[in-house]
Amino acid sequence: MREQVGSYDLKWQDSYGMVARIWAPCNDDRLWISDPKALQYILQTSRYNMVKPYAARFLLNSATGPGVNGAEGEDHYRQRRILLPAFGPSESRAQIPVFRQCASELVDEFKSKMESQGSTSQETNIPHFLTYAILNALGLAAFNYNFRGHGKDREEFTASLRDFMVKGFGLPSNGKVFFQGIMDHLPTWMLDLMVNLPSSGLTFLRRHVELSNGIAQQLIQSRLTEEDDGNQKDALSRIVIANRSESERWRLSDKELFPQLATILGAGHETTVTSLGWILFELANHPDEQWQLREEILAARAGENGDDSKMVNLDALPFMNAVIKETLRFDTVVPHLFREAIRDEVVPLSKPIRCKSGKVIDELFIPKGTSIIISDVAYNRNKELWGEDADVWRPSRWLDGTVKNTGFNVGVMSFGAGHRACLGWRFAVTEIQSFMFELLWGLQFELTEKSTRVRKENCLVMLPMVGGEEEKGNQLPLKVSLIDLPK
Ligand code: HEM
Repeated sequence: MREQVGSYDLKWQDSYGMVARIWAPCNDDRLWISDPKALQYILQTSRYNMVKPYAARFLLNSATGPGVNGAEGEDHYRQRRILLPAFGPSESRAQIPVFRQCASELVDEFKSKMESQGSTSQETNIPHFLTYAILNALGLAAFNYNFRGHGKDREEFTASLRDFMVKGFGLPSNGKVFFQGIMDHLPTWMLDLMVNLPSSGLTFLRRHVELSNGIAQQLIQSRLTEEDDGNQKDALSRIVIANRSESERWRLSDKELFPQLATILGAGHETTVTSLGWILFELANHPDEQWQLREEILAARAGENGDDSKMVNLDALPFMNAVIKETLRFDTVVPHLFREAIRDEVVPLSKPIRCKSGKVIDELFIPKGTSIIISDVAYNRNKELWGEDADVWRPSRWLDGTVKNTGFNVGVMSFGAGHRACLGWRFAVTEIQSFMFELLWGLQFELTEKSTRVRKENCLVMLPMVGGEEEKGNQLPLKVSLIDLPK
């Protein structure tokens, strides 16, 4: 049976420490690394001297078109410079009413469904249960675009986003693993030609990019005529307005702006659904913590008393934020990042290592061209950072002083780091907080027999699937029940 994603990383970290050399196809050395100091150097200090390998950019660009995620060097810098401010802390906080509204509609829909069935609970596939509400929340907050609306293209695009990773990338078959292993050796012109191959994944992705660019074109055109009266709240309006006032050197062309819609949805939708899914799964697995969190939410809601002007500060709910951080750490949704050194580098290590020759070194010489696999999974389970019980889901470690400041976003490696760190991490955390605030107040989550067969599978991001039913794609079954609590 195939190992679950991340299991080798944890075995290697236990056996060899935080640095290892992997022999890949074509006699190609790869550096596998989870050392905190080295990661800081590779992701932050070295900047554009450690780039995403061409093969990784090829995969990203096939999925979204040439957006910020697949850009490098000055192109990347220019694009990120315009996009980043639209996803800042106050911009993300401004979206809380939208996020909470979408979450509360989801609870209401579930209630109506249960009433019509004369029932109070149902086994529910969590990613499918969440997907449209999260998509709609992201669509409204990022683009003021309502995915619930009608229209052939809109409906097709919404459906294609639901199973984006599974249909676009699928499970890692032996053939795919081999192909990814040799991709770095193929000439770039060959990869560029392969974009047009009639494989089912690439055909799906081509149609997805076509639909998304059509919608982006309409949305951006409508923003171009918009006056800046300071009331624009969605990220796209902020981006278009910021871009308009840029000098020619920094301004993005329409051709550069269009792919950002697919990039933001591709990078931001399934990652958020999956992270929230794992949070609900962990809470179902730990009923005491689920009730502890519900009590925190109830107390905060009592303070709001239904008055919008008293909306609670979600960052100030300690246990909720501990649960979020702990699940981002424990169930790492983006298990690996990939980089390549474009010049010789010397990378510092947090702990000396003994080489095969017996020599002890505290920095690593990396020749130009080295492929690097950054293991977020291993970093997030490092016992020296998280405590001896790093392999246990325990939110209280964030409150009892076990976790020291790691210097990375939210304290974990789950959003990457440095000049390419997740552009939407504040957005994602605010959306997850808002959904938890509504869902846990109205609903209860419990394990079922089927949830015990849930596995972590690698479809570019780590997705939950049920063992023996992988062909059904994303599955995280939980019993969802209505609970009647005071407003
Ligand atoms: C819990 C949800 C999310 C997780 C775990 C996540 C994780 C990540 C990670 C690990 C990276 C770094 C990739 C690398 O360095 O190779 C990344 C990049 C990115 N993320 Fe997220 N992400 C999430 C949500 C979002 C959201 C909601 C958005 C948009 C609103 C978003 C937009 C992006 C973009 C555009 C990039 C590329 C940034 C660049 O290359 O400069 N992500 N994300």
